[in-house]
Amino acid sequence: MKSQTIGKRGPSISVLGLGCNGMSLQQPRNDDESIATIQAALDAGFNLLNTADFYGMGHNETIVGRAIRGRRDKAFVSVKCGFMMSPTRQVLGLDGRPASVKNFCSYSLQRLGVDVIDLYAPCRADPAVPYEDTIGAVADLINDGKVRYLGVSEVGAALLRRAHAVHPVTALEIEYSLACRFIEREILPVARELGVGIVPYRVLADGLLSGAVTSEPTSPHAHLTPPRLKGEHLQHNLGVVTALMNMAHAKGCSPAQLAIAWLLTRGDDIFPIVGMSRRARLPDTLAVLDITLDAADLSALEEAFAPGAITGERYPAFVQKFAAA
Ligand SMILES: NC(=O)c1ccc[n+]([C@@H]2O[C@H](COP(=O)([O-])OP(=O)(O)OC[C@H]3O[C@@H](n4cnc5c(N)ncnc54)[C@H](OP(=O)(O)O)[C@@H]3O)[C@@H](O)[C@H]2O)c1
Repeated sequence: MKSQTIGKRGPSISVLGLGCNGMSLQQPRNDDESIATIQAALDAGFNLLNTADFYGMGHNETIVGRAIRGRRDKAFVSVKCGFMMSPTRQVLGLDGRPASVKNFCSYSLQRLGVDVIDLYAPCRADPAVPYEDTIGAVADLINDGKVRYLGVSEVGAALLRRAHAVHPVTALEIEYSLACRFIEREILPVARELGVGIVPYRVLADGLLSGAVTSEPTSPHAHLTPPRLKGEHLQHNLGVVTALMNMAHAKGCSPAQLAIAWLLTRGDDIFPIVGMSRRARLPDTLAVLDITLDAADLSALEEAFAPGAITGERYPAFVQKFAAA
């Protein structure tokens, strides 16, 4: 694993992180394998562990906590708060009130079994609360020694600047992949100006870029299926990703590996998190670090995946309204 400094004054962390949400979503859950995956990832040098208090209604933090017991020094734990969800994953709203943020943090510390959270981020800006107040609560937690670094998630350039004016932001967690490049226009340049690291999530675009999706997904949580995986958008998008499949075949790697390798070419301030819930995924993901993309590869990908090439929103409307655009 390779490590590099995140943010202007941040720590050195692994360039690839482990996204833990899927461990709480799988049916049935396999906590033993999830914990073994986190521990194997730590042993392989992935120290960035990404979770949130609402992933599995606290379940996710509990398994991260069990996995890092006795290995706390190896982990850089990143936690989000503020989404309110029902047990059936209906989005109930956001809560960015300062007292709530501090309360959420207390529960997360308890579930994780740690004294301090490495990176703490409100998952979205709550439109009912001035963003400065929400961020100010995290700054208080930093001053109190409960949090080490401030993160933000899914905010645009203006909110990023507002957060940074309250307290230096170490990382912005936001969707970024070959299939989703909206951040390149304005958000990425502002993050670079401010010295904020980028933590891309959904780097495989809900399975579009790994080849896992070949038809419209059927799931008990169909209300969460993004428009880009439905109907005409899906048919169009499957055509676009053929270029990635062909290039991966020619290079002797998988399309998922190629998609993650492309992200790593975007700058040394990019720290993609990959959602993995099985140890068997780790060698493939680590091997991404050995993939090289030459100028011809990059220009072929640029042509196939120019911004806007993938059509359809990345979230259903009732979630998209909270996301950065
Ligand atoms: N800030 C936010 O708003 C936000 C939103 C969504 C997610 N996130 C974070 O981002 C993390 C990742 O998101 P995600 O899980 O939705 O998307 P993802 O990382 O793009 O995809 C995860 C899926 O890809 C599979 N996979 C992993 N490595 C693979 C490989 N080498 N080849 C083929 N398939 C592979 C995984 O399979 P297995 O599960 O079988 O291993 C899993 O099904 C989450 O865990 C969460 O921490 C943040």
